[in-house]
Amino acid sequence: MMKKVMILGSGGREHALGWKIGQSDEVSEVIYAPGNAGTQEERGRNISIDGSKKDNFSTLLDFVNSEGVDMVVVGPEAPLADGVVDYFNSKGYSRIFGPTQKASVLESDKFFSFDIMNELRLPQARSVKCYSTDEAVRTINERTSNRGIVIKARGLTGGKGVTVCDLMEQALSEIRDHAGKYGPEVLIAERLFGQEFSVFGISDGTRVSPLEISIQDHKPLLDNDRGPNTGGMGAYSPAPIASALVVRNVADNIMTPIVQRMKEQGTEYKGFVYGGMIMTDQGPKVIEFNIRFGDPECQPAMMMLRSDLYRTLSSSLDGKLDQIRMEFNSGAACCVVLASQGYPESYKKGLPIGGLEEANKIQGVKVFHAGTRLDNGQILTSGGRVLGVTGYSSNGVADAQRIAYEGVAKINVPGDFHYRKDIASKALS
Ligand code: AMP
Ligand code: GLY
Repeated sequence: MMKKVMILGSGGREHALGWKIGQSDEVSEVIYAPGNAGTQEERGRNISIDGSKKDNFSTLLDFVNSEGVDMVVVGPEAPLADGVVDYFNSKGYSRIFGPTQKASVLESDKFFSFDIMNELRLPQARSVKCYSTDEAVRTINERTSNRGIVIKARGLTGGKGVTVCDLMEQALSEIRDHAGKYGPEVLIAERLFGQEFSVFGISDGTRVSPLEISIQDHKPLLDNDRGPNTGGMGAYSPAPIASALVVRNVADNIMTPIVQRMKEQGTEYKGFVYGGMIMTDQGPKVIEFNIRFGDPECQPAMMMLRSDLYRTLSSSLDGKLDQIRMEFNSGAACCVVLASQGYPESYKKGLPIGGLEEANKIQGVKVFHAGTRLDNGQILTSGGRVLGVTGYSSNGVADAQRIAYEGVAKINVPGDFHYRKDIASKALS
């Protein structure tokens, strides 16, 4: 029987996951809770329940049961940390993909991830756990090296909560402001230097099977990595800084030992594992873990993935991931995020978007929606990151980049978008 799959969330990551899952010959429909203006294409259907909100878990489960949804995939971290998987499991529904609330500490508690990596002697920044601002000030003052200090909030901060300081003086002047915004408990970490890359894996509770391609995000708002950090202004894959072998090593020697240790501790970790990595001159080190797929990394990743994602996730839920090896296209993919003017601060919403069809007509282009909504047949902006224009080329990253920007050139809104002009350029220099 053909399967129905539900995706929780409404961003570009969710559109890309659903687009890929919908290509499976076992899937008849992808239901998004709530999705965006782009997700109603082909086999997609939006429902008006926002599945990322805790208050909606019980309505959502009623819907899932009455529709006979075969699998639920959770996009963002908030519902995971709020226990959506626990809730569904406790009511007898086990086909929900993602870690439990207890296992979510890998992302939601930076002290937990620091401790487990420390115990297992895994490569990460040298850090000190501080439970109060006084302790943090003392720790900063005791630093002997002056190669930079990073202040990292202990809890979830929606991708913010990290302050990178060049000098001890700067760290001392930032610490109180940081505590005011994100709480007094922080890691004081050494600053690491090198190019960043992301590694994604799928954990079935016993081992982590990687997507054997590296991906590079672009967090700063402006070209040449200037300006404030954002959720990500674009991403491409593969990133030359990390080969498929490096990626496999991260999964085998860092991620798998962590999920095994968590299992020994009685906390089974099932779901996506996201390693934010940095390539230092001593090799790859971990910056942080997330318990979900990256956004916008997911968009190029889904264009690179050749295997059936529905079957892969299904095997993972059955604890049979060892029977699956994911395959990838040989080319490259590049995703350029079009953001509302003013993002990541305040911005206007409700502007009409033109040119989407023309962009999607270009060979190799797929426009993934994020902050968009449909109003009387017109697609409007409704968020900070609006679209992820993604190009794939079998000829490699330069061509994927060219195709993505050809797509970008077709799209317009009044007052225009902000986007970076240099996504994937690090791969070419
Ligand atoms: P995170 O939210 O932990 O991914 O951190 C956000 C960004 O802060 C990362 O993408 C890095 O650019 C930077 N960062 C975090 N920790 C470090 C570190 N120890 N050394 C250098 N940069 C860091
Ligand atoms: N692109 C960064 C993130 O998803 O956290």
